[in-house]
Amino acid sequence: MSKLIVVAGITGVQGGSVARTYLNAPGWKVRGVTRNKSSDSAKSWEFKGVEMVEANLDDVTSLKSAFQGADIIFGVTDFWTIFKDPESITKKKPGQDITEYCFEVELQQGKNLADSAASIPALDRYIFSSMANATHWSKGKYRELYHMDSKALAVDYAKSLPGLKEKFSQIQAPIYFNLLWEWSLPTTPVKNLDGTYRIKGIGSGDLPISFGHVAKDFGPCVQAVANAKPNTNLFAVGDEISWNQYLDTWCESQSVLKGGYDEHSLDWWMETLPGLGREFGENVLFSMEFGYDGKDPSVIRPPQLGLKMTTFKEYCAETDFSRILQR
Ligand SMILES: *[C@@H]1O[C@H](CO)[C@@H](O)[C@H](O)[C@H]1NC(C)=O
Ligand SMILES: *[C@@H]1O[C@H](CO)[C@@H](O)[C@H](O)[C@H]1NC(C)=O
Repeated sequence: MSKLIVVAGITGVQGGSVARTYLNAPGWKVRGVTRNKSSDSAKSWEFKGVEMVEANLDDVTSLKSAFQGADIIFGVTDFWTIFKDPESITKKKPGQDITEYCFEVELQQGKNLADSAASIPALDRYIFSSMANATHWSKGKYRELYHMDSKALAVDYAKSLPGLKEKFSQIQAPIYFNLLWEWSLPTTPVKNLDGTYRIKGIGSGDLPISFGHVAKDFGPCVQAVANAKPNTNLFAVGDEISWNQYLDTWCESQSVLKGGYDEHSLDWWMETLPGLGREFGENVLFSMEFGYDGKDPSVIRPPQLGLKMTTFKEYCAETDFSRILQR
């Protein structure tokens, strides 16, 4: 009899990668959880052989029913979906920062996923996509990395549930390679009048930052975590590169001239991108100062599970950047 993995957030980057991996794994069936079965992306998963069910991360009853019969559950919450939801601004408390509101909602969603997974007695493994506890590992220096701490605190909660004892593992995603250029952020290479390309970032141009080809590599990482013992905490990092290495590698891959890296302050990032600027900027600074995973001693890295990850150079070689190239 085949086994069942239930993928929450299947229409997202991480969930999509997990679903692709298990669709190709003999003996596995994939069920995808989505808010809207009629969406184009939900329909395309159905077409590929995924059983699609509707559930909402804010609604435990719907999640419990979506998780019935699962051997493995993959859970992920997305701070940015809440951030971009136009209703969030009207639902937050007066005077509350929008990012703090998103933290509260995301943490509750993480708890809802854990509670629902804990209600499935025959479950083998619940794997949650988490991030480092920034407040904790920075010893209070970075207290407002809400998109990180929300996930870390959901981990604390999941670990406290008797129903998830010896069933829980976590996986941490690095910064996506494609965020560097596909999200219209200032990190996108821009051609200058002299024909060279420059990027904007935060912090030193020479310190490594943790990146990865999440769309491609995350699924195999989740599969490896599922096959490992419970209480595994994998940091699914692909490549550690500095801003300068990013620009060097990219320019070389596209045969264009390198200009340079322009460092911008946290204040500049916060002004340029309200909300997102601080979360992203501090995320990079935290990564440079304390390690993206906070140097949490419980964390293991892909080679320890025999995983081969895509380097940034390999990613550049297989990616079409024509949208941002100005010939
Ligand atoms: C679900 O998706 C369909 C197709 O995109 C759309 O017409 C419909 O409004 C969506 N429903 C909700 C509740 O968002
Ligand atoms: C995260 O940090 C806070 C503050 O230091 C602490 O209360 C909490 O237990 C930590 N959780 C984890 C998983 O380290």
